[in-house]
Amino acid sequence: MTLKKNLSQYFPDNSIPSLVKNWRVTLPPGRVSPYSIKIYRKYLSQLIKKKNIKTLVLGSTPELRDLCLARGWHLTSIDINHNMQLAMRRFMKQNYNQEVLINADWLKASLPQNHFDLVLSDWAVNMVSRVDLPKLFLNINHWLKNTGYFFEQTGYFDKTFQFKSFAEIISHYDHQKNINVNDLRWLLLLSTWRAKDEKIYYQDYSDNLKKHLTLLDNWYKQNRITEKELAGLKIYLNSKKQAVIFKKETYLSSFEKYFKILDEFPGEQVLSRFYLAKKK
Ligand SMILES: C[S@@+](CC[C@H](N)C(=O)[O-])C[C@H]1O[C@@H](n2cnc3c(N)ncnc32)[C@H](O)[C@@H]1O
Repeated sequence: MTLKKNLSQYFPDNSIPSLVKNWRVTLPPGRVSPYSIKIYRKYLSQLIKKKNIKTLVLGSTPELRDLCLARGWHLTSIDINHNMQLAMRRFMKQNYNQEVLINADWLKASLPQNHFDLVLSDWAVNMVSRVDLPKLFLNINHWLKNTGYFFEQTGYFDKTFQFKSFAEIISHYDHQKNINVNDLRWLLLLSTWRAKDEKIYYQDYSDNLKKHLTLLDNWYKQNRITEKELAGLKIYLNSKKQAVIFKKETYLSSFEKYFKILDEFPGEQVLSRFYLAKKK
């Protein structure tokens, strides 16, 4: 496996056509799940009643951008890849003419300070490495107004979590009657992460790939996964992706330095968590 410092250059332009083509079957965390969208919607409706607010979305997540526009909020999105920002617009349902696109690195961007009422992020902070995490949180803190909120879905692992190998996970699911594909895809992703150093590695499933793809076909034939889920898993096993998941202590020590947690609760996938926080 190859070690990389951060992931900002790993959503290159040549990855966009296949992402767009396969969007319908893309599984979380690559795409926000319908369950997660409901959570964002519910919380944001309770939290913010005003219309005239300024929001910032980290990355290009079309569903989060739509969510802000649908409420009449002023929207800025920031992504290092401008073509990704544009490409994801085809999955937006709202009129995005007023959206401000900033093409910059979250770690280096100089956005106005004390400016945003809300920063939203779905698995975006897991795109930077452990050493850069405090800088990212510091930046978000600076960009938020004193009354501003940071609402995100992320994930970290604690001591109780057992990292399992790819083969162990597949074999576990092979013995299950009902297969939760979101969890399976997620556990496979986690199987490539190294608990001990929190660095970023390529996931690479080329070993035994044929065998695993045949197994997935069998699950489909046995009606244990749907055609759409089969397609999503196949795309995923054939691609190389990376991300980083932090230790709970690493994550929270940084997070709590810059934010006061108002609420936190588990997301639908193993290890995923939602955080609603205020600027400290
Ligand atoms: C937020 S995410 C992960 C998937 C996420 N659920 C989504 O829907 O976009 C991926 C996006 O983050 C962008 N990105 C990664 N690192 C970045 C950085 N340091 N600064 C700005 N954008 C970054 C990538 O270009 C990519 O478009």
